[in-house]
Amino acid sequence: MSQNKPGQIKFYNGEDLPVELHKVRIVQKLNLKPVDERLKAIEKGGFNTFLLNNEDVFLDMLTDSGTNAMSDNQLASMHQADDAYAGSRSFFRMEKAIQDVFGKKLVLPVHQGRAAENIVSQTFIKKGDVIPMNYHFTTTKAHMELNGGKIYEIYTDEALKIKSDYPFKGNIDIDKLKELIEKYGKENVPFIRMEASTNLIGGQPFSMENMRQVRKIADENGIIMVLDASLIGENAWFIKEREPEYANSSIKDILNEMCDICEIVYFSSRKVSSTRGGGICTNSEELFNKMRDLVPLFEGFLTYGGMSVREIEAMAVGLYETTDETVISQSPGFIKYAVEELDKLNIPVITPPGALGAHVDAMQFLPHIPQKEYPAGALAAALYIISGCRGMERGTISSVRLENGEDLLSDMELLRLAFPRRVFTLSQTKFLIDRLKWLYDNRELVGGLKFVDEPRVLRFFMGRLAPVNDWPQKLIAKFKKDFGDSL
Ligand code: F0G
Repeated sequence: MSQNKPGQIKFYNGEDLPVELHKVRIVQKLNLKPVDERLKAIEKGGFNTFLLNNEDVFLDMLTDSGTNAMSDNQLASMHQADDAYAGSRSFFRMEKAIQDVFGKKLVLPVHQGRAAENIVSQTFIKKGDVIPMNYHFTTTKAHMELNGGKIYEIYTDEALKIKSDYPFKGNIDIDKLKELIEKYGKENVPFIRMEASTNLIGGQPFSMENMRQVRKIADENGIIMVLDASLIGENAWFIKEREPEYANSSIKDILNEMCDICEIVYFSSRKVSSTRGGGICTNSEELFNKMRDLVPLFEGFLTYGGMSVREIEAMAVGLYETTDETVISQSPGFIKYAVEELDKLNIPVITPPGALGAHVDAMQFLPHIPQKEYPAGALAAALYIISGCRGMERGTISSVRLENGEDLLSDMELLRLAFPRRVFTLSQTKFLIDRLKWLYDNRELVGGLKFVDEPRVLRFFMGRLAPVNDWPQKLIAKFKKDFGDSL
C-alpha cells in the first residue's frame, strides 16, 4: 500500500496547503439557504445545533462521528457481508483486523463507543471508586458516574492553555497520578483511563513516553490501564510527527505499541474506522470473561454486537486504512491549515492544531458574554446563522447543573468545528474561515443564551435555548448590510 501525506507536497509558490490525496467519486448536494431561513431553522432547533435538520446545514462540522467519508474498498466490502446471527464470517474478518491493527486477540463487538463504556464501567466500577484519566468524554463520565464512580482529570498545566506549542497536551500529569492513588488507595482505582487525541480539550494527543510513565505507576500499584482508542489513529499520527523517537516508525507499529501498553482497548468505530459500531479488545482472558456476558444482554450476540454485518465488513477494512498515513493525516492536515489561518487572523483558536477539528475559544471570542450565558453555545448559533456551518458547543452547555441549581462551569468554552476525514474541500474550508473572520469583526453583536427546556442527563443533546435579547436580528441586519443578497 503506497502511503503519502499532504505535508510531503511542496508548492512552487511557497504555499503550505493540504492537498487531497483522494478523488471524489460520489457526491452529495449541499444546501446553503438564505440567512433569514437559517435564523428560522435555528429558532426551530432551540438555538442548539444538535437540533438542526441537516437539510438546513451547509457544512456539517458538528462531528466526525459516523460522518467520515468511506473508501471504495469499504463500500465494496459491504457486498461480501455474511448474514448470520451467530458465527458470521464478517465478524471473523473484523476480529482479524482488530488483532492485526491493535494487537489484541480477544474481541467484543458493541454497537458504538458509549456501549463499550457501559460494559467497561458496569464490569469494573463499584460505588466510591475513583477513575484517573487525562480528560473525560461526556458519555464516559455519564457511564462512570452512573455506576457510582468519580472521575479525576489529572492533566498537565499546559492542557487547558488555549495558545501553546506544547506538543502533547493530552498527557497525564504523573505526579498528580501518584498523589491521587495514594490519597484514595489503589484498591479504589479500578483502572486508569487514557483517551487518545483527548476530545474535549481540543483533540490533543498524549505521547508514548507519557503512556509508558503511566504504565510504570499502574504496575507499581497493580492497576490496569484502559485506552479509549476512538481517535487512536490521529494520536499515533501526532506521535510520529512530534515524538522524535517515532519519526521513522510506521503508524501500524505505533498503534500496536500504544495498545500493548494497556490491558483493555475500547473504541467507537464511528470515528476510528469511518463506519458505525465499536468494540472492546484485550489479551487477558480473565478481563474478557468478566465483560463478555454483558454483550448479549445490552448489544447482541457475540459475533455482531448490535452492528449489521455490512458495517462489520466496512469496519474491518476501515481499521486497516487507519494504519495508512495518507488516510490518517488527511483530517489533521486540514485542521492544521484552518487553525493556522485563523490564528493569523488573531481569531482565538486552540494551538497546537490537534485531531477531530478546529476549536475556537469562545471566552476570548465573546468576552462580553458571561459563562452562565453560554458563550460557546452562542458562538455556535451565531456561526450557523451567518454561514450555514454547523459546529458543536463544547463548554458549559455540555456540562451539568449542580444540586444547588447552578451550572458547573466548564473548564473551557469551545466551538468545535469538526473535520471528518476526506469530506470537505479547501475552498469550503476557506469559506468557513472567511465567515468566522466576519463574525469576529462583528462579535459585539452576538449575545448570550438561556435554557428554556433542559434535560436532566446529557442536556446538550436535546436541550432548547433562547437568545437573552434580540441579538440574532441585529446580527442579521449587519450581515445583510455587508453581504447584500449573498448567501
Ligand atoms: N470516546 C470518545 C473519545 C469519543 O469522542 C466518543 C464520541 C465516544 C467515546 C463515544 O462513542 O459516539 O460511538 O458512542 N464522540 C463523538 C463526538 C460523539 O462527536 O465527539 P460513540
